[in-house]
Amino acid sequence: SADLRSFFGRPIIIGGGIAGLMTALQLSPEPVLLLSRSLLGADNSSTWAQGGLAASFGEDDDPAMHLADTLAAGDGLCDRDVASRILQAAPKAIEGLAGFGVPFDRTPKGSLSLGLEAAHSRRRIVHAHGDGTGREIMRALIAAVRSTPSIVVVEGVEARRLAVRENAIRGVWASCSIGPFFFGSRRVVLATGGIGGLFLDTTNPWGSCGQGLALAARAGAVLADLEFIQFHPTALDGPERPMALVSEAVRGEGAALIDETGQAFLQSVPGAELAPRDVLARAVWNHLADGHHVFLDARQRPGPAFARHFPTIASACRGAGINPARDLIPIRPAQHYHMGGVAVDSFGRTSVEGLWACGEVASTGLHGANRLASNSLTEAIVCARWVAESVAGTPARRTRPAFANVYPPPAPIPVRVFLSRALGIVRDGEGLKAAARALLPLAESKDGVSDPAAVGLMIAVAALLREESRGAHYRTDFPHHATAARRSEITLEAALAAA
Ligand code: SIN
Repeated sequence: SADLRSFFGRPIIIGGGIAGLMTALQLSPEPVLLLSRSLLGADNSSTWAQGGLAASFGEDDDPAMHLADTLAAGDGLCDRDVASRILQAAPKAIEGLAGFGVPFDRTPKGSLSLGLEAAHSRRRIVHAHGDGTGREIMRALIAAVRSTPSIVVVEGVEARRLAVRENAIRGVWASCSIGPFFFGSRRVVLATGGIGGLFLDTTNPWGSCGQGLALAARAGAVLADLEFIQFHPTALDGPERPMALVSEAVRGEGAALIDETGQAFLQSVPGAELAPRDVLARAVWNHLADGHHVFLDARQRPGPAFARHFPTIASACRGAGINPARDLIPIRPAQHYHMGGVAVDSFGRTSVEGLWACGEVASTGLHGANRLASNSLTEAIVCARWVAESVAGTPARRTRPAFANVYPPPAPIPVRVFLSRALGIVRDGEGLKAAARALLPLAESKDGVSDPAAVGLMIAVAALLREESRGAHYRTDFPHHATAARRSEITLEAALAAA
């Protein structure tokens, strides 16, 4: 339409979660185009986020303590400088978010109410409507975006390929129900979220299937730390897929993990219920593998207060016939977050000129080998500002439109079984090689199955090349840390050559 043509050359943001919406708002009043695969707020990991945002607001806290916890959880792989900058900027960024009307929970005196989550040495999780934090932030940001005239939102459009010439972005090929589009621009921001849709057991919506990784990789971008996939220890174990999350804030309020004998089984796990997520997910996984069933016991604590503190989880439990104040909650680990992503510098710039990444799709170095709980929304809102400043400081240049359908049709996801089997909580070289062998022909295929397979292949190769165990990457054939901690980088070309 004439309206859309007037946006040619303007920055394009791909993704309508918290990272994408915040970037668009921070760019205002510069006109931007935001492409969202679904209606804003639907089928989106941000909306499902329960825990909250971590920041050092407490009187007994400061950014240095938050940094120390982040580095400890990251198991030697965090970028200390990046982490320090992000965590120092966190409190102000969260106050900015409150300025958009997010109804953060507060104490009777009006200060932010702070929750506790695993591996945090202080209460520092800011939340809204108990466990409805993502939903409330999305509600406020969507309202702000809809009332900002400089932001044009196009919903129901899926970005399929980035047009690149001489390692510089020229635009975005996208598809929707009425056909293909080309949006010309030399400035594109990826804010497409994670990869849970590539796994059988996940707490993410199915739509989170690595779309941004595929776009960036096909454009030639470098990706980092892809082998680090976070499994949440406590997803509600039932027939529903994707799985409902039982936030670790529930454990922060005192709920315990027990097995079918009624016994606690975490005696040998330092930190027990509040151990770092990778450690706890492995302990639960191993106990299940030994033939036990695992439950979260919230009957004493939070007990009768459960539904008031955690209305979203209480409702998911009710759907499964469980009353957490009276019944045990059956749980098992599920894929939850991707620490790896498109490699970015501290302005969110990727290795392709004119391409930025923000949120879960990006690898900033904050999370290392295992993300500290509730650091992800914090990262998204802090980095959205830096990305927006960098995009705004990059001059707009005209780009010629092109109208040819050069990308394949939407692909099914035939890879979930391979990835779930080979790239789960416990891995080994043989399983990773088998996955890479199975994924290679799919990744190379021209018939449209290639994007999820290409993402899966890159992750499998990255995991194969990391011959050590660290954070969320645990290999039975290399169970120890390597002497030196090093971040990993990979391109699609290198993964195809290595497979
Ligand atoms: C949770 O509420 O347990 C998840 C929070 C997060 O993933 O950081």
